[in-house]
Amino acid sequence: MSAMAKTYAIILAAGKGERMQANVPKQFLKLAGRKVLEHTLCVFQKHARIDEIFLVINEESRLLVEEMLLSGDFPKVTKILGGGATRRESSLAGVRAVPEDNAYVLLHDSVRPFVSSRIIDDMLEALATFQAVDVAIPATDTIIEVDDRNRITNVPPRRYLRRGQTPQGFRADIIKRAHQLAAKETDVIATDDCGLVLRYGLCDIHVVPGEEKNIKITHSEDLFLADKLFQLNTVSMDPQIDLNRLLDRVVVIFGASQGIGAATAYMARAHGARVHGFSRTDNVDVADTEAVERALDKVVDQEGQVNHVVNTAAVLRHGRLLDRDMDDVRREIDINYLGSIHVARSAFKHLIPTKGSLALFTSSAFTRGRPLYSVYSSTKAAVVNLVQALAEESAPKHVRINAINPERTATPMRTRAFGQEDPNLLLTADAVAAATLRTLLSPFSGTVVDVRRNQDMPQEWIR
Ligand code: CTP
Ligand code: MG
Repeated sequence: MSAMAKTYAIILAAGKGERMQANVPKQFLKLAGRKVLEHTLCVFQKHARIDEIFLVINEESRLLVEEMLLSGDFPKVTKILGGGATRRESSLAGVRAVPEDNAYVLLHDSVRPFVSSRIIDDMLEALATFQAVDVAIPATDTIIEVDDRNRITNVPPRRYLRRGQTPQGFRADIIKRAHQLAAKETDVIATDDCGLVLRYGLCDIHVVPGEEKNIKITHSEDLFLADKLFQLNTVSMDPQIDLNRLLDRVVVIFGASQGIGAATAYMARAHGARVHGFSRTDNVDVADTEAVERALDKVVDQEGQVNHVVNTAAVLRHGRLLDRDMDDVRREIDINYLGSIHVARSAFKHLIPTKGSLALFTSSAFTRGRPLYSVYSSTKAAVVNLVQALAEESAPKHVRINAINPERTATPMRTRAFGQEDPNLLLTADAVAAATLRTLLSPFSGTVVDVRRNQDMPQEWIR
């Protein structure tokens, strides 16, 4: 295959979603702040090896889709095509529009928003060798075959059974030919494109591993699962983001006297940022909304603007809720939760003119409450929830807000709570600082950014 072959993603979004029984086709339902279709488009838009995206839709949705594309977020969408009454017709509309016969074509269900860049990578790699590639996962249930009278006729061995997902990838000439042949027949009942290629025996079809989370949103129950999957969606920061972009930016850090805050301030300064750090040591307690406001106003007086704001201030107290002093509990909530609210409220008006960004801190405890840390873990869950909501509220103003989720990190706060621990098992404050600064510079908003030890994976932007 020549290195020149282009790659087209054809997103099938012309279905009616009858099984979902919603008032709009399921690809236009909103989950985690965006339409399902937008989430799906995002994955292909971001993938470096996708050249163009063709979107196959129902004419009735055209206005909705055009409005969606006005955001400018999906410049790779070069064609909007009318689909047909069946998936096969819709897929044919997409395939027919691919100009080159040697191109790679990936056909994908619009209602599989959790497709990962890893799956796309594997598929493209396989397409260098095979002319057709499917994505599938092992069957977990026993699959039985029945006849028209609902009697079992066969129980195929599970070892050979897979559940098909999408995308399905092809060399353009193969899939075009499969559709041409199918068009000549009257009753082809293949629900997918690999099925057609198999029917006409056009080539071997290779299978690459899919993922459990690459679900097809089909029934209303799937919406709950999808919502949860989005909630738990975390990203890892791209180490390619150049910290020198901080040069001359004004960065304000709350909780800057020690730990992650201090490391972030130091690193930002080292990359040329104009850093203003505040902490309780200089009488800026994030629990005090006026103190936070005054601190930011002072920076704006001095610098004329603010580009980025970080709040690392938090306390971690130990003990069974019933055993704890209520004033102490309130204090923990005031610092960890209200503190984030105070910083966000005061920072927003300053971040609007600079189209700036804000980073708050959560903890891995946000996904599930931890015994003996009930207050801490619930405030950290609240911070994630807050970030999700604020990201949507601030999107029209182009202000970004994210939650940093570091693994166990070597900080004075941690040592106070847990005593001396093996440093090899802890993240360094510097690693967290670097991820925080990269997040501030990234286009992301509303995400939880995981920071892990040994983050040596090829930094895919996990969806
Ligand atoms: N699709 C399409 N054109 C069709 C039918 C389906 O583009 N005529 C697309 C759907 O939009 C979806 C994908 O194919 O992204 C998978 O199909 P399915 O889950 O069956 O979606 P719907 O057909 O919309 O749902 P239902 O079968 O419940 O009506
Ligand atoms: Mg269907």
